[in-house]
Amino acid sequence: MGRRMTVPPADPRSNYLARAAEIDAAIRRVLESGSYILGREVELFEQEFAGYLGEGVHAVGVANGTDAIMLALKALGVGPGHVVFTVSLTAVATVAAVEAAGAIPFPVDLRPESYTMDPEKLSEAIRFVAEHERLVKGRPAAVLPVHLYGHPADMRAINDLARSHGLYAIEDCAQAHGAVLEGTKAGCWADIATFSFYPTKNLGALGDGGAVVTRNPQLAEKLRLLRQYGWRDRTASEIPGHNSRLDELQAAILRVKLNYLDEDNEKRRAVAAAYSEACAGIGLTLPRSAQGVSHVYHQYVVATPFRDELRTYLGEQGIGTAIHYPIPVHMQPAYAGRILPESHSLPITEQLCGRIASLPMFPELTEEQVTRVREAVLAWAAQRTWTR
Ligand SMILES: Cc1ncc(COP(=O)(O)O)c(C=O)c1O
Repeated sequence: MGRRMTVPPADPRSNYLARAAEIDAAIRRVLESGSYILGREVELFEQEFAGYLGEGVHAVGVANGTDAIMLALKALGVGPGHVVFTVSLTAVATVAAVEAAGAIPFPVDLRPESYTMDPEKLSEAIRFVAEHERLVKGRPAAVLPVHLYGHPADMRAINDLARSHGLYAIEDCAQAHGAVLEGTKAGCWADIATFSFYPTKNLGALGDGGAVVTRNPQLAEKLRLLRQYGWRDRTASEIPGHNSRLDELQAAILRVKLNYLDEDNEKRRAVAAAYSEACAGIGLTLPRSAQGVSHVYHQYVVATPFRDELRTYLGEQGIGTAIHYPIPVHMQPAYAGRILPESHSLPITEQLCGRIASLPMFPELTEEQVTRVREAVLAWAAQRTWTR
C-alpha cells in the first residue's frame, strides 16, 4: 500500500477555492438573473475571451471541446469524403470529433522535441492520400494539429503546407490557453481554432464547456447557427444544426477565471522551471520549448524507458502521476486497423506512449509540494543507478 496521496496530479478544486468568493458571486448573479441559456454571461465571455486572444477575433461558446472541433469542421464544410490530418498522441476527442463531423481522420507522426505534429510527416501523409485514392476513401481537406501539453505546434510550417495544398488549418487549443508562438497566441494562427474548458484545463470551467474562435466573421456567424438548431432567431432553422451551447453558469465562472489565466500560466511555468532544474542530467527527457514559444505547461511530461518504475516509486511517496496518453488513438480498440493504413506506422508516437509520465502540474501546487516532487524524482534516479 502506498502512503496517503499528498500531491495529486491535478486539482481543479484548489483552483475554484483560490477564487471561491468571486466564483460564488458570479454563480449567484446567474441564478438570480432568471436567464440560463445563451444570455448575457455567454455573450460577455465570448467578447472577453476573443479580446484576450487577439484583435479581430470572434469566439463562439459551445458545449465542450469535442463539439468545438466537430462544429469547426462543419462550419468549414469539411465532412463526408474529406480527409483530416491530425495526430494520434492526443485525447481521443480530437479523432472522435473528426469522425463526428463525418470526415476521415488520418494520423501523422510527431516531432520528438515538442510532441507536436511533424510538418515533414504531414507533407508525406498528404502525398500518400493523394496517391492512394482507393486506400483512403477521401480527399485531403484539412489539417488539425494539437498544441499538446501547452506547447504550440509549428503553425508557420503547417499553415504553409495547408495553403499550398488547399487545406484548411484548425488548431486544437484544448491544452494551450494563453500559449504564444512568435508573439501570436495559440488560437490565432489558423482558419479556425477550438478550445475545451474541461475543469483541469488551463482555463477550466466547473463542468463542461468549449469555444470555437476565428477571425472570419462569416464562419463565426455560421457557428452561431450550428450550435443551436440552425437558428438565427427562434422562428426557423436556416441550416441543420445541433444543441451545443456553452452554459450560462459556466460562462460566468469562466469570466472570473479568465482574469487569472496569465497569472495561473505563470505559476505553471514556475513549477515547470523548478522541476526542470532538479531533473536535469538524471537521464529523463524533459519538456523543451521551441524558439519563440511561450509554453503554458498544461502538463509537465517527462519521458524515460523506466516510466512505470518511476510512477510506482513516486506513487509510493504519495505523488500522483498520470499518462497522457497510454495508448495512441490509432491503436485503441475503436480505431485499430481503421484509421491508419497498414503500410503506415507512427514510430515516435508509439514509442512515446510507452515512456511518458505527467508529473503533478497545477497552479496551486505549494513550494513544499514542488520540493517533494523534486526530491522524490531525484531519489528515484539515485536508487535506480545504485541498484542497476
Ligand atoms: C487535445 C484535446 N482535444 C480535445 C479535447 C476535448 O475536450 P472536451 O473534453 O471538452 O470535449 C480535449 C480534452 O479532453 C483535449 O485535451
